Amino acid sequence: MLYIGIDLGTSAVKLLLMDQDGKIVNVVSREYPLYFPHPGWSEQKPEDWYAQTMEGIRELIRDVDKAQVAGISFGGQMHGLVILDQDDNVIRPAILWNDGRTTEETDYLNNVIGKEKLSAYTANIAFAGFTAPKILWVKKNEPENFAKISKIMLPKDYIAYKLTGVHCTDVSDASGMLLFDVKNRRWSPEMCEICGINMDQLAACYESYESVGTLLPKIAEELGLSADVKVAAGAGDNAAAAVGTGTVGDNMCNISLGTSGTIFISSGKFGVDKFNALHSFAHADGSYHLMGCMLSAASCNKWWMDEIIGTKDYGAEQENIEKLGENHVYYLPYLMGERSPHNNPNARAVFIGMTMDTTRADMTQAVLEGVAFALRDSLEVARSLGIKLERTKICGGGAKSPLWKKIVANVLNLKVDVIESEEGPAMGGAMLAAVACGGFKNVEEAAARVVKIVDTVEPDPELAAKYEARYAQFKEIYPTCKPLFEMIK
Ligand code: XUL
Repeated sequence: MLYIGIDLGTSAVKLLLMDQDGKIVNVVSREYPLYFPHPGWSEQKPEDWYAQTMEGIRELIRDVDKAQVAGISFGGQMHGLVILDQDDNVIRPAILWNDGRTTEETDYLNNVIGKEKLSAYTANIAFAGFTAPKILWVKKNEPENFAKISKIMLPKDYIAYKLTGVHCTDVSDASGMLLFDVKNRRWSPEMCEICGINMDQLAACYESYESVGTLLPKIAEELGLSADVKVAAGAGDNAAAAVGTGTVGDNMCNISLGTSGTIFISSGKFGVDKFNALHSFAHADGSYHLMGCMLSAASCNKWWMDEIIGTKDYGAEQENIEKLGENHVYYLPYLMGERSPHNNPNARAVFIGMTMDTTRADMTQAVLEGVAFALRDSLEVARSLGIKLERTKICGGGAKSPLWKKIVANVLNLKVDVIESEEGPAMGGAMLAAVACGGFKNVEEAAARVVKIVDTVEPDPELAAKYEARYAQFKEIYPTCKPLFEMIK
């Protein structure tokens, strides 16, 4: 049997075909545009996601026996607001996870409704990128669109709907809407009331590994697949990546260096971060997780390389980096504001510490280190909650760089286990499809059978000590700059 995993990302949709033994048969990727209609806003067209996903599936399965394809599932960019009218047409472009327009709505939720109530109803507080503040934004700024809303969807769920005709979501992605009672794995009536919506405007919520239905006959025909192909609910991209890297069960860690950067800690039981810096979400394995999310991670390096230096040869730039732990240049990676732990849409990226002898390599190094230091900020919150970690998995585009993995291992002082494939969310999606089709008993069994560690990057005590001292300096930069961010917005 073959299973398709669809990672509906921010820069592209990545599709992966996996066989019953967890072997990757094919991978394809198709890009779509990202729109920034105002500074700090971020939108995409759901129609683009769908068109590229369909093209991608065709390309993915072109040379295989299509009758072998048994299941499809997803990892998807989280939190994006997709609104459909009563005929299931998209009302406006999706407002994405890294969109910072909802400062007013986030402040209202956190300060007028109050963090305690939000936390009691959902296990989380409001962050600008979460879905509920965006609903309030549409309600206030586009009342004509708000009045048309028949269904509120998340990005990957729009694709599942197009494939099956079922309005569905899953517990991990629903957790990031601030409309979901994470502990009890069900919608929160209180939050619906606060946002002025009805429960029936929300999709039916499934566990990530549950089948929501089969392909619509016309879709099956378009793709040349059987109409019996099962579509499983799938997961938010971070939970899917955790499945794909075997980060399931209790106290396992995965770091994703994608457009966003996340540190994901799986947990056997429900728990909340009392500092409200880490998200408390349901996991795709039927359990829970804590997660810190930075809004710009590999995207900082991409911006620095593509837009500023003007090169596509990231590897060649990194070859010139020789002075690990000795860089005087620091970089704050807040190109789109920051989520964890600062919760500040007005934060901005900063370089500091340059002198006349600073080189291009020092600046590139500062970008890679700045992302690692910012991940460490979230790790420190987890450590302050008593969570003890010795090692982590790693995935995402940034995980292709051996240098960046070494920096992460030493800045976080964690052993970094490298998986055979860094295709976290797409792999996780395919594994969830396999569970839904009965190919594996459950998500744990899928992880145990499929995920293979091929290397471990160990921190070097001398280098880790140097980074410890550098991190102490890095930590001072954000609070010092914070008042300036308010001035320069
Ligand atoms: C997680 C988050 C990002 C997106 C990226 O909370 O906002 O990781 O899911 O696709």
